[in-house]
Amino acid sequence: MSSNAITATLARLINANNNITEAEASNSPKNDLSTTFPLMAIGDALDMGHADDGTPLIDPRLFDSPEFARNPYPYYRIMRDHYPVYHDKLHNCYYISRYADITDCYFDDQGFNTIPKGSSSGVLGNTQLELSGVEHRRRRNLYGQHLVGKSLANRLPSIERLAEQMISAWDEKTNTDFIEDNNGVRTIELGRAFANEFPISVVCQVLGFPDEARTDFYYWYNSMMSGLGGSAGHQQGLEARQHLEDYIEGLVEERRTTPGFLYDNDGQQLGKDIITKLCESKIDNDYLSTEEITSNIALVVGGGGETTRGAIMNIWYLLLQHEDQLAEVIKDDSLWDAVFHETLRHSTPIGGQPRHNSFDITLHGIDIPAGSLINMVDFSANHDDRVFKDPETFNIFRDDLYYGKLLRSGYAKDGRSSHMAFGVGPHLCPGAWISHQEAAIGSRLLSKQMKNPRLNRQRMRKDIDGKNLAPLGLASAREVWIDYELE
Ligand code: HEM
Repeated sequence: MSSNAITATLARLINANNNITEAEASNSPKNDLSTTFPLMAIGDALDMGHADDGTPLIDPRLFDSPEFARNPYPYYRIMRDHYPVYHDKLHNCYYISRYADITDCYFDDQGFNTIPKGSSSGVLGNTQLELSGVEHRRRRNLYGQHLVGKSLANRLPSIERLAEQMISAWDEKTNTDFIEDNNGVRTIELGRAFANEFPISVVCQVLGFPDEARTDFYYWYNSMMSGLGGSAGHQQGLEARQHLEDYIEGLVEERRTTPGFLYDNDGQQLGKDIITKLCESKIDNDYLSTEEITSNIALVVGGGGETTRGAIMNIWYLLLQHEDQLAEVIKDDSLWDAVFHETLRHSTPIGGQPRHNSFDITLHGIDIPAGSLINMVDFSANHDDRVFKDPETFNIFRDDLYYGKLLRSGYAKDGRSSHMAFGVGPHLCPGAWISHQEAAIGSRLLSKQMKNPRLNRQRMRKDIDGKNLAPLGLASAREVWIDYELE
């Protein structure tokens, strides 16, 4: 994903406060954004006034408000219907909100470039994120090919093994603060019990980090993620990045002479790990520098952790609220692909990508001067009812969503379209297929482990009424508490 996207989206994911309690809401000082934009019933937009022709108005302070973080979709609908290009003069940027327009812009890599560097650049290093055209393609191909096809197929048994190890460790961890057994019922918090670490373990393994480095790796990863977006943790993020670089430097030196391999359950070699492959890669007849390898690794780490964690958490949060659909999935494992894609359509962990236009353009009658910041709102594209019927409904059986392997060119055939959670075009997420496999394999194994799973509503965060479950809004679920029968 582009650096500003990581900045804006991951910082928001990490810091998001979409679970606002009634007490927090009522304690807010007067005239702050929560009183200017009172929290509305989910699905309803606040009336911000109307133009003379009756068009609803948008106050751009909305975008900073708790109301928007918790309940964005009615506002995105106003944007799609009345302001397909919305010029936000307060934040000095433009929003593009319709599926068709966003798709066109993503494909036009020259007209809508990824050049802007956010403060994440310091944390992640000099990555391919900001490149376009042939430069971008050459760097992406260095590792992208190892995350798909046969390379990925070879890795699936080890991904499955990791998931099994984590789940079977629950028996040893009873009576911690996130796994508790009472009268034959086990209660777990899915994030701490599984989803927070699983994607990072997969990334560690695929990259070829030795097992003993994993604890340090988690620490560096978390620090780097907290440091994105110029937040208070930025300094810590930079330090973590330096430690990661020092560590990788040693590893790269070692792998340049002694290749690292991945193994299957029977100890058979599956192929070289990605760090080894990067050490062996050349651009213009030169081996990649350690800095180039480190930046690529930091990018894969940054791209592959929080996103897949969010996907797994949202899968279970949504599915457990739709018990009839959960029952069907438990009967038929092949439905996990549909669950994965419908979850990413309904509630993607990455809500959009920034671009800058290379030339002056006019879109839907709005002039956009060259060099403007334009936000492609993937959240909104995924809820565009020009493409998806009844978009606010979570339905794994919908007939307008494409459930197959995602194509870089996007997919729109026979009335089915791909969701926009992985983008489309040259920057389409190279981790789309591996994250799909991680989430589907992990969730299948979880469903086998948990007999009669249901949400522990008492422990779940609530919406403003203190009763209903908190909506996902712009964030992924931070905690999902599940009860299940032990026997
Ligand atoms: C559910 C999980 C994931 C989501 C929703 C997601 C989303 C995205 C999106 C939307 C982009 C496009 C950015 C743009 O157009 O500027 C992207 C790019 C990227 N993603 Fe992912 N991602 C996920 C998982 C992963 C995983 C597992 C990895 C690595 C193992 C990964 C690595 C990357 C990288 C390296 C890029 C940059 C690609 C480029 O600029 O060419 N992502 N991701």
